[in-house]
Parts: sequence; structure tokens; C-alpha cells
Amino acid sequence: MAVKINDKFVTPFVGAHELKNIRPALHAAYNTLLSRNGAGNDFLGWLDLPVNYDKEEFARIKVAAEKIKKSCDILVVLGIGGSYLGARAAIEFVKSPLYNELKKDTPNVYFAGNNISPNALCELLSICKGRDVCINVISKSGTTTEPAVAFRVFREWLINKYGVDGARERIFVTTDKCRGTLKKFSDESGYETFVVPDDVGGRFSVLTAVGLLPIAVAGIDIDAMMQGAADAREALTVENIDENEALKYAALRTILYRKGCATEIMVGYEPYTLMICEWWKQLFGESEGKDHKGLLPDSVNFSTDLHSLGQYIQDGVRNLFETVLDVKDCGCRFEIPNDPANVDGLNFLSGKDLDYVNKTAMLGTLIAHTDGGVPNIVLEIADRSAHSLGYLFYFFEIACAVDGYMLGVNPFDQPGVEAYKKNMFALLGKPGYEAERAVLEERIRN
Ligand code: PA5
Repeated sequence: MAVKINDKFVTPFVGAHELKNIRPALHAAYNTLLSRNGAGNDFLGWLDLPVNYDKEEFARIKVAAEKIKKSCDILVVLGIGGSYLGARAAIEFVKSPLYNELKKDTPNVYFAGNNISPNALCELLSICKGRDVCINVISKSGTTTEPAVAFRVFREWLINKYGVDGARERIFVTTDKCRGTLKKFSDESGYETFVVPDDVGGRFSVLTAVGLLPIAVAGIDIDAMMQGAADAREALTVENIDENEALKYAALRTILYRKGCATEIMVGYEPYTLMICEWWKQLFGESEGKDHKGLLPDSVNFSTDLHSLGQYIQDGVRNLFETVLDVKDCGCRFEIPNDPANVDGLNFLSGKDLDYVNKTAMLGTLIAHTDGGVPNIVLEIADRSAHSLGYLFYFFEIACAVDGYMLGVNPFDQPGVEAYKKNMFALLGKPGYEAERAVLEERIRN
């Protein structure tokens, strides 16, 4: 099992009777998910993806990844939310947060179109200057402003550098199979396209072409990742809920929420988990934060943030709990050198592995934070392999869907995301938004 729960640091806060009492609700939510009769049941394609994916497209993703590897120094991935977080998380987790700086035989991968920052765009364009570039624009709807603006810019850049025909060979599009302006435009322009399946929402799409193409370009074994997810599917869709680690996690976080915890902080002890936390924040925040309900997903990276947010977690308002990513094999051995002069007094650490020190910091922190009244769920992850990551993605997706149903919301929609877009379009003068614009301008004036 690539992901296991260590409940030693949460049991002081959650009684056995509470776990027993939540079973009927947990069972009901789980059955709703597996019998596919709950809210948002037209977005459950992700449940079967690890075994029931489009094999022909999967093969095409590998071919495209090889073509991209051969023809460029830089792949720019244009997408926002679920259209980029999974790929970025995977590259940082399996390879490195410094992937682009490392010596390697695969292209650098940069992410754009996930903000509206002119600085970010200018800086990336200057990095691309004089380099060979391919782009993968990813948008399920095909209409999201952030990646659409970036696509305009990079398409023009590619056409100026390689001509219309040359650019065509360097533009890869991942979008809906038939709907949307992006699909229509891509077909007319002759760009190679990949599909975001109808029944898979953005934040659940990492195991489709959305995640797989950039991940494969970075040289990560996507077969192993899918196998990890398939193994998770086998382990986490079992009848016996006592043996189901995703359900244990779902039960614990719901019990803590119902007892007054408002925030769940995902904790990593390695910079390579930073983007996993960002992906997890979108998954849970966008799935649960509805109808004025839901845990606020937050994240920290220790020991770095023990020197910033550590004080608050230890001693601030007691309405939070932590979920710790404990990667058992961190993938690196680093011996602490001896200093004959022992200037810093640290010779008691000489010859020790740095990961041993990191894990000891984790243990000390777990004890301190639980002593301080913060429940800690520990997720033990075997290693940072593509297989374990595929498993982890699926583990979180199951837990998220079940907890969404326990909360009584539709875990698969995101109506709240539209509010800012409507105001932004109205204020920017998008045709069709004239009435909203007048109302907003009046509000601003007063
Ligand atoms: O989870 C979701 O559906 C969203 O976060 C989307 O991923 C995000 O808004 C991007 O949408 P699109 O892929 O349509 O551009």
C-alpha cells in the first residue's frame, strides 16, 4: 500500500466511539459515490480512469511527448487551476522543484496562463528568447481568460519565430473533445489535440492528457503513475471500510470539522511537496467550500514554516488540525560532515543522514503540536515515485468526494468561481455584460 494512515497523533482527539458513530454517514456517502447516484454524478469519470482510459490517446500522448522532447528546450504549459496544478505537482514531487535548473535530457517545463501578471509573462518570454519552444495549452472549457490571453501571446511568438507551418508543429492543445472555441480553432489551425473527458472535472483531471502530457515530457513514467492509481482504485474501492485508508482519512477530517476545526493544514517536510499541497488545496477547497460550509485547506512546508507559522500553529486559536505528508523514502542520502573544531557544537550530528534529522524534526513537531492541542493525521507515503504519486492522487480524490457528500454539497461543481469572472468581464467591457457593468460602476461610485 503506497499510502497509509498513522493515527497515533490524532487518536488523543478522536474517540473510538466517534469513529464508530460516523460509520453510517461514511458508509452512506461512500455508497452514494460508488453507486453513482449523488449530486454531480455526471462528473465521475475520474473514478475509473486508472483502468478505463483511452489507450489510443495514451499512446498518442507518449508519441507527442517524444516529439516535444526532440524539438524544444522549453515546453510552456498554459492552463489554470486543475489545468496545471497536477502536472506541476507531479514534476516537482517526482523530479524536483528545481527541475528546470537540473542537468537533464528533457526540456524545461514552465507554467504560464495561471495568472494575469504582465511581469510573469514578460519574464517567461525573455527566458524563451533564443530557445526552441513548444506549448501545450490546456483548457477544458476553452474559454478561460488567463490561458487564452497567454495562448494569444505565445501563438504569436511561435508564428513570428517559426512561421505558421512551423508553429503548428509546436502547439499542442488539450481541451473538450468537441465543444468550445479552443477546439474549433485548433481543428481549423491543424494543431494536435488531446481530450479532457466530458465526465472529468478540471481538478480531477490529472490522470488525463491534462496532466499526462507535460508529466511525460518531463521524463516521468506515466505507465507507473497510472498503475499506482489503478492499485489505489483496487485498494480504495473495497467494501470493508475498515481496510480503506482513504475512508479513514475522510472520517477523521469530517469528525474534526464537526468538532469545530475550521482549517486543515497540509504539512510537508520537503520542498518537493509544496505543489502537491497546492493541488490538494484546489481539490478540497473547490469541492467542499460551498453553501458557507467546508474546511479551509491551507498548507505549510516545515521546517521552513516552523520559523514563520509555527508559533501560530503551536499556540494560536485552537480551531485547526494538521495532515502531515510523511514520505518514508525521501530518495536522497546526505551525510552531515564532521567539523574537527566543532565550531557550531553540532558534532553530535556528524555522520548522521540529513533525512534522519528531518524525520526527527517531524517527530518533535508532531509531539509539540499535539501537546499544543492540534490533532495531527499522518499520511505515510512509500516514496516519491510516479507509482506512489498516482496512488496518492487517487487516494485524495476518493476522500474528497466522500467528504463532499458527507458535508451535503455537490463535490464536483464550482459555481463560486464564476462570481469574479462576471465582475471582471463587466468592468472590462465585455460585450453582453453592459447591464452588470452599469450596476457595478454605480456601486463603485457610491
Ligand atoms: O476544477 C475546475 O474545474 C477548475 O478549477 C478548472 O480547472 C479551472 O477553472 C480551469 O478551467 P478550464 O480548464 O476550463 O480553463
